[in-house]
Amino acid sequence: MTIKEILTQTTKKLQQSCQRPRFEAELLLAHHLNKERIYLHAFDNKEVKNFEAFEALVERRANHEPYEYIVGSTSFYDIELKVEQGVLIPRPETEILIDLVAEIIEKKNITSIAEIGIGSGAISVVLARKFPNLKIIATDICDTPIRVSRQNIETFGLEKQIEVRKSNLLDNVNEPIELVVSNPPYIAQDFILESNVVDYEPKEALFGGVIGDELLKEIVLEVKKRGIKYLACEMGYDQKEPMESFFKQNGIKSYSFYRDLAGFDRGFVIILNVTS
Ligand SMILES: C[S@@+](CC[C@H](N)C(=O)[O-])C[C@H]1O[C@@H](n2cnc3c(N)ncnc32)[C@H](O)[C@@H]1O
Repeated sequence: MTIKEILTQTTKKLQQSCQRPRFEAELLLAHHLNKERIYLHAFDNKEVKNFEAFEALVERRANHEPYEYIVGSTSFYDIELKVEQGVLIPRPETEILIDLVAEIIEKKNITSIAEIGIGSGAISVVLARKFPNLKIIATDICDTPIRVSRQNIETFGLEKQIEVRKSNLLDNVNEPIELVVSNPPYIAQDFILESNVVDYEPKEALFGGVIGDELLKEIVLEVKKRGIKYLACEMGYDQKEPMESFFKQNGIKSYSFYRDLAGFDRGFVIILNVTS
């Protein structure tokens, strides 16, 4: 079959599972051929070899598997990161959290931070690349994110800056830390998610408890207990009110919330030991 014929057939196959079936068909075929998308348009009469292998990729996408797991990588911030099933695919809104944290690091000359829940390494890798003097201890409770994040750290030559530890929250971190950043699981246990998310992405990365904000609250208490000055976290669009009440109940006075590009509440930054 030619490129043109394959694209027509694949577009039809992906109609139920993808919002942009033609675009995704092109991405998958370009990946299979190890070419840029433009090649498909320039050489649309070329025969495609190893069609069975390509069909297997299409089958996975037709079953709602995320494109990023099929090709094994994703674009995030200014880099390409390895991902696989068992690791959350980093989301564009997390780039806002990184920019907020980068601002604090720069203004306050911070050199030692911790990340809770490293996943693919998205946050720590981008921050370490921005600040070559920054040291990061990053934790995760799951083995796959620990392995994959270490691979990404190695790809960017950041082994001297980022240390990954298996740990619940900061249990295995005893060094002095100036700031904690986290995009923890924050979705309520019974929240209905789309198939491409719930059937493929790790539960440990998605669900924060029965209500959803349980782990966020644990992180706040842990950071407060340790006297760490800054905490920046991503959260769910409906968690501003409960988190604000929680801060007040715990005597935390200096905090601000931020929104994502769609205008939804998306996270907070706390400054501890200032007035609280
Ligand atoms: C939402 S993902 C975020 C991954 C990555 N930081 C990002 O922004 O793409 C949350 C991560 O936290 C990890 N995690 C969940 N509970 C944890 C805990 N109690 N302590 C440390 N890590 C945890 C999960 O395994 C997962 O990798």
